[in-house]
Amino acid sequence: MTTPLNEQLNYRDNQLHLESCSLSSVAEQVATPFYCYSKARILQNTARCQAAFSAHDIGIHYAMKANSNLHILHLISSQGLGVDTVSAGEIQRAIAAGIAAEKIIFSGVGKSAAEIRLALDTGIGQFNVESAEELALLSTLAQTSTRPVRVALRVNPDVTVNTHRHITTGTRGNKFGMPPEQALQLFRDYADHACLNLCGLAMHIGSQICEAAPYRQAVSRLLALTKTLKAEGVHIRCLDLGGGFGIDYGNGSSLSFSEVAQVIADTIHTEAPDYDGKVVVEPGRSLVADAGVLVTRVNFVKEAEPRPFLILDAAMNDLMRPALYQAVHPLLTVSYADNRVQRQFDVVGPVCESTDTFARDYPVSEDIQAGDLMAFLCAGAYCSVMSNSYNSREIPAEVLVDENTVQVIRRRISQEELMAFED
Ligand code: LLP
Repeated sequence: MTTPLNEQLNYRDNQLHLESCSLSSVAEQVATPFYCYSKARILQNTARCQAAFSAHDIGIHYAMKANSNLHILHLISSQGLGVDTVSAGEIQRAIAAGIAAEKIIFSGVGKSAAEIRLALDTGIGQFNVESAEELALLSTLAQTSTRPVRVALRVNPDVTVNTHRHITTGTRGNKFGMPPEQALQLFRDYADHACLNLCGLAMHIGSQICEAAPYRQAVSRLLALTKTLKAEGVHIRCLDLGGGFGIDYGNGSSLSFSEVAQVIADTIHTEAPDYDGKVVVEPGRSLVADAGVLVTRVNFVKEAEPRPFLILDAAMNDLMRPALYQAVHPLLTVSYADNRVQRQFDVVGPVCESTDTFARDYPVSEDIQAGDLMAFLCAGAYCSVMSNSYNSREIPAEVLVDENTVQVIRRRISQEELMAFED
């Protein structure tokens, strides 16, 4: 296991810093646990992503489910990116963050009528439709729309992806998308529809994918369908290839933006050189994950057999990925001394569930004590957004650092506030 430190997250004077802020000084101002993000890292990730994809004229829609904090959304969209949304709530957030409606794509396998209506009223740029049933509902609701509604059909390209089984989405048996043959038939059925403009194909094959080969295979399947449609007189104007680009959680594997961009461009160039529509991708995790940490305090060092427990004040409801996907988030002490001897711990939270376990047999310096600060790395994506208040725990604050300034971008949600919903 290597520790994925980076230009913005590193030790200085034996203290873990995010940009110029030492995390222990942030912890003097903000109660633990809290999420802390680096503005510069998010901007740098976004710029690298743009450089890689724009070189091949590929557009980017940030999959905001990864981190939908309004400040983060504003930061990313102000760089010119659109967004991929999966609920009415995300569309409302995108609009609140100042994102133009036409830059919003609405994905999702189970859109309700109310959500579709909100999206139509908002005038979003594209619906990614996942079933014949959804298309039928959309066609009914779109009748009152004043302009044609742009639709892409999400195809399940049935490719095998080497990632956790809970986050593959483009394999037969997954609930997402439809087989290419069904998409073809729907294009025929809706060819001259008065309100719907079926003009795109979409896919998303999974998340945390660290190899480019499945993209080549899946894009190739979409292009085959594009060619069949073209022969029938249907011109695809947008290929939405989804996201899923893996980041390094400490095991050394990831997928670079430039590699996946090159594979997509090569596949299109080789297999459909005359394709002249748009191509877009929807990265989420890869823009924000390594820009964030979850800062937590040790509540107890509990001596036990076969190993001692490190009991933190963060729990599975603040960082759910280990409990859900057996994900490992590298964990570091905020204060560092290089000559410390390490000892193996089981690292757990205080929630009354055995699955509230972050790591087993994990090395931490042996002199760790109650009250010490620690940080889980790679906590910028799918952490805060997946948090909840199980065990009546408060929802942690989110903090954005910009060089040496610290801004609370979501205050901690207190127990009083949580209880106020039950008045
Ligand atoms: N587009 C669509 C339609 C998606 O469903 C997703 C993610 C993305 C784009 C962005 O994928 P990304 O680039 O972030 O991998 N909670 C899980 C991840 C679930 C991803 C769901 N869909 C985790 O913590 O690993």
